[in-house]
Amino acid sequence: MAVDMKGKHLLSISDLTQEEICQIIETALILKFDRQTGRPHELLKGRTLGMIFQKPSLRTRVAFETAMTQLGGHGIYLGPDDIKLGKREKTEDIAIVLSRMVDVIMARVFGHEIVEELARYSLVPVINGLSDFEHPTQILGDLLTIYEKFRKLEGLKLAYVGDGNNVAHSLIYGAALTGMHISVASPSGYEPDSRVVEKAKEFARSTGAEVEITNDPHRAVKGADVVYTDVWASMGQETEAEERKRIFQPYQVNVELFEEAKPTAVFMHCLPAHYGEEVSLDVGRHPRSVIFDQAENRMHSIKSILVHVTR
Ligand code: CP
Ligand code: NVA
Repeated sequence: MAVDMKGKHLLSISDLTQEEICQIIETALILKFDRQTGRPHELLKGRTLGMIFQKPSLRTRVAFETAMTQLGGHGIYLGPDDIKLGKREKTEDIAIVLSRMVDVIMARVFGHEIVEELARYSLVPVINGLSDFEHPTQILGDLLTIYEKFRKLEGLKLAYVGDGNNVAHSLIYGAALTGMHISVASPSGYEPDSRVVEKAKEFARSTGAEVEITNDPHRAVKGADVVYTDVWASMGQETEAEERKRIFQPYQVNVELFEEAKPTAVFMHCLPAHYGEEVSLDVGRHPRSVIFDQAENRMHSIKSILVHVTR
């Protein structure tokens, strides 16, 4: 493996260089091909992953656990009622104790500062499995999916339409670091964090990417190769759901809006989707929707991440 990422925490996509992202995609492609052609790898034989979940999950939990099983290791699920993160004992103590037993930790949390604290005290790599601020493993799987569809990333245009949330933040970094142009269309007051946008623009200076933030979904999707959206109310924002439904209505990705992108454009969504809200069902089931490839690619890319940070 050309780039050494052993021992590295993955809390944000911005923790990675362009070279490291390319390496993760390359290894994921190899692991995926070998899995599909029946060549198992026991690269993580005898290794254990500790998975902390403060929030629900289908894809992330199954992808991490299956990745460990397929690579000859083991994943332990620690749900909200198991360790009661932030309630039963200090986060610092959890990080120290867990990392004395397992080889790598994944944590899905509310506040981003919780994964940062886990990483500060952990003796082993900590991977952010979604925080309120970022969702890096999602975007690494998405970059793998985009690469598979277009055989390149550099120079493509990605339109993200919707809430300037955790997924949007990681996408902005991921695009800027890989030379993909990104245009984010959100309602006023729901734009991505300006610190993320500024930092991404810094990355973009060396990769040639363009980072645009707008309130106009039509402007964002014009000429796009990828149209991406996510739920309007994320986990933890349930009380705002009704108000957001009203505010975000003009930002729904329906066939009309999707057709304003390139005729070859693909539709992406990290899932779970709320059909009829941020995306219509016919776009979700469109022949150019790649949402289920994205979901499967979580597993292949997570295998690659686990291998790179532990070996
Ligand atoms: N996309 C994603 O992270 O899905 P889950 O919430 O089901 O893990
Ligand atoms: N923005 C969503 C992503 C779910 C994978 C959330 O945080 O709930």
